[in-house]
Amino acid sequence: MLTPENNDILTRSGPGTPMGQLMRAYWTPAMTEAEVPAADEPPVRLQLLGEALVVFRDTQGRIGVLEEHCPHRSASLFFGRNEHDGIRCVYHGWKFDVTGQCVDMPTEPAGSPMCAKMRARAFPARLAGGVLWVYMGDPAQVPPMPDFEWLGLPASHVYVSRWEQDCNYAQAMAGELDSAHVGFLHSLVDQTDADDRKLTGRFFRADTAPLWKIIPTLGGFLACNGRKVEADKRYWRVNQFLLPFYTMIPPHPADARLVRMWVPMSDERCWVLCATFRPDRPLGEKELAAWRNGDNSHRRVVPGTTRPTERLDNNYLIDREDQKKRSFTGIAGVRAQDAMVSESAGPIADRSREHLGSSDRAVVAMRRMLIDAAVSCGRDGVKPASASQPHAFAVRANQTVLPEDLDPGQSDELMATAKPRSPEASMETAK
Ligand code: FES
Ligand SMILES: [Fe+2]
Repeated sequence: MLTPENNDILTRSGPGTPMGQLMRAYWTPAMTEAEVPAADEPPVRLQLLGEALVVFRDTQGRIGVLEEHCPHRSASLFFGRNEHDGIRCVYHGWKFDVTGQCVDMPTEPAGSPMCAKMRARAFPARLAGGVLWVYMGDPAQVPPMPDFEWLGLPASHVYVSRWEQDCNYAQAMAGELDSAHVGFLHSLVDQTDADDRKLTGRFFRADTAPLWKIIPTLGGFLACNGRKVEADKRYWRVNQFLLPFYTMIPPHPADARLVRMWVPMSDERCWVLCATFRPDRPLGEKELAAWRNGDNSHRRVVPGTTRPTERLDNNYLIDREDQKKRSFTGIAGVRAQDAMVSESAGPIADRSREHLGSSDRAVVAMRRMLIDAAVSCGRDGVKPASASQPHAFAVRANQTVLPEDLDPGQSDELMATAKPRSPEASMETAK
């Protein structure tokens, strides 16, 4: 459980809050590259960390991310005209370039110095790995980009999607770290998949109370969970948590790797971005078609929007017959099942009412790490090491079966790529 004070620290990320300051020490993944408008096309809205922004591309293709409200009298620049190399507010015609500089102020007399002094609030932005990244912190301290594996891959190896979730980011993210739910929420009523490592397979059924081991890393921690699958063997999964809102779960050996990003839109809603990628080869047409349809690692949305099709306001299209006979939830899609349990706790769950058990260890560790980091950053001005050490993010989630007496932290197979290597080692590999 958390005190109401700590619940506030964990869940509030607007400007000036401790968590808001922690998150603003990093680049923030904001939308997919495909959602960024083309040059001179109308701007789009972007709600991020409790702030209202607009995104547009100027005539030269440069991306502008500005505060949505015009610095004159706050009309929304979403309704603005994306004219030659700048966006023009339609209220009085003030025009701003991608840096936020006012370049035309037709309501002031010619020769007025006001235009040159006027700036809209603008945020540094860049594209990498099929994602638009925005930096919302101190402009004098722009951090390096995180060195995630997928950011260095060709576009043909990566697919990214984004959807909305109607609850606080920490609540949504908790579901990904809470491995014990897999044997229930995503299971089938009376069937077990022949493939042991599938979420509906034997490994998740054999032991419903996994053993936990939390191993701190440079950027967060490894949430190792081990299920007893034979008399003398455990199936270990090493999930990654990386500050401030990243998770990685080990994929089924035949599937693509993935990173999920749980980014606050406001305190009561979040974006979920999911990058799926194959380090060794381009993605196949079949898996791409499934992801575009919102299957497997991604989420089904109303076409052309980020709004999921299965939502709280339609009870996630629950099929009670299916729930009786086949699936544990009666809800189609693993992502919709996860969203259902997270959102049904309310937009910001009251964590003072919880009763946490041993299966919640990774969730507790995530909250603790976030709250401690937010307090250090927000109140004492100390940023986490990973804000300035991008190799903290160059890690993988792994899985394997180990002898019962072997600690996951002692397994090279699990640890070699789960822990960040030194930047020197990374450079040597790149040579
Ligand atoms: S409110 Fe934008 S120009 Fe006046
Ligand atoms: Fe899940």
